[in-house]
Amino acid sequence: MKKILLTLFTVILFCMTALTVNAAEPEGNLTIQLKIDSPVMLVNSEEKNIDENGTAPVIVNSRTLLPVRAIVEEIGGSAEWDSKTKTVDLQSGDDNIKLEIGSLTAYLNNEPYTLDVPPAIIGGRTMLPIRFIAESFGLEVDWDSEEQTITLTKKADQPTESDTSTEVSTEASTESVTAEETPSESANHILVAYFSATGNTKGVAEKIADTAGADIYEITPEIPYTADDLDYNTDCRSNKEQNDDNARPEISGTVENMEQYDTVFIGYPIWWGQAPKIMYTFMESYDFSGKTIIPFCTSGSSPIGSSAENMQSLAEGADWLEGQRFSSAASTDDITDWINSLDIK
Ligand SMILES: Cc1cc2nc3c(=O)[nH]c(=O)nc-3n(C[C@H](O)[C@H](O)[C@H](O)COP(=O)(O)O)c2cc1C
Repeated sequence: MKKILLTLFTVILFCMTALTVNAAEPEGNLTIQLKIDSPVMLVNSEEKNIDENGTAPVIVNSRTLLPVRAIVEEIGGSAEWDSKTKTVDLQSGDDNIKLEIGSLTAYLNNEPYTLDVPPAIIGGRTMLPIRFIAESFGLEVDWDSEEQTITLTKKADQPTESDTSTEVSTEASTESVTAEETPSESANHILVAYFSATGNTKGVAEKIADTAGADIYEITPEIPYTADDLDYNTDCRSNKEQNDDNARPEISGTVENMEQYDTVFIGYPIWWGQAPKIMYTFMESYDFSGKTIIPFCTSGSSPIGSSAENMQSLAEGADWLEGQRFSSAASTDDITDWINSLDIK
C-alpha cells in the first residue's frame, strides 16, 4: 500500500512539474525581440547580432526598418538580394515576398500590397519594413513604445505556410495597422526632414534622428540633381534656381502624418549662403503652425546666416529655434551636445 501511494505521489508531482513548465513557455514557440537602436536581438532570450555590421533597427515615418536576413533565417526562411534590380526576395514556407528599394509596392505571393514606408538603403545597409514581412509570414508583432522593442512570435501550432495566416497578416500589414495596431509606433513626435544633394547633410540628419529618437524623412527632388546641376562655377541648374525667387523645384513623395509631429528639424546644404529652393517648396507644402522648427545645415565654410530666417515667412505660426551649421565631418558627440542644449519637449 505504501509503495502504491509513493508511486501515485511521484506521478502527480511529475504531472504538476510538466504543467508548470508548459504554462511558462509554450513549447516550440519562437520569439525574436528587437530594440530600436540596438544591433542585438534576443532569439528565445539568446543574444544574436542582427547582422555582421552591427546594424540596428531604425524608425522611418513611424515604421521600423532593419536588415531582415537573420530574422527570416531564424524562422526557417531565406533571403536573396539582387543588387542589379535592387530587389529582395524572401521565402518562408510557401510564402514569398518581393520588395524593391524605394518602392511602396511589395508583393506577397505575387499579390501587390502598398507599404507605409519603402525599403531603403541606409548607411549602405538594406533596411526593410519588419511589420509587413513578419505579419505576412504569419508572425505576431507586438510593439512596446516605452521599451522601444518589437517582439515577433512564431507560434508552434501556427504554421507560417497556412493560407489563413497569410490572409490575416496581409490585412493587418496595410491600412488597418496604421490606425489600430501601432498607435505607439506612430506616436513619435519629432521629425528630421532634410534635403541633401551630395550626402553631407544626410549624414548629419541621420545622426540627429538617431540621437533625438526622431523619425527621418528625405526631401527627394522629383528631378534629381546631377553633378552638372551642382557645378556652381557654371550657369548650372542650382545657381539658376537660387537666383530665381519663384523657383520651387518639385518634391517626390510626401511626409505622411505631418500632423503627428510637434517638433521638426529641417536640414539642408548652404547654396550661395541660403537654403536650396527645394526647401522653400517643402516649407510651403505643410501647415507648420503650432510646431517647433529647428533648422540645421552643412556647408563648405559659410555659417547658417540668414538662410533659416528667410524661410520663416513660409511657415507662419511656427516657433523657430536658432539654427545650427555643421561641417560634413560633424561627430555624434557634436550633435549630441547640440541636441542636449535644445529644449525639446
Ligand atoms: C550650388 C552650390 C552652392 C554652394 N554654396 C555654398 C556657400 O555659399 N557656402 C559654403 O560654405 N558652401 C557652399 N556650397 C557647398 C555645400 O554647402 C556643402 O558642400 C554641403 O555640405 C553640401 O551638402 P549635401 O552633401 O548635403 O548636398 C555650395 C554647394 C553648391 C552645390
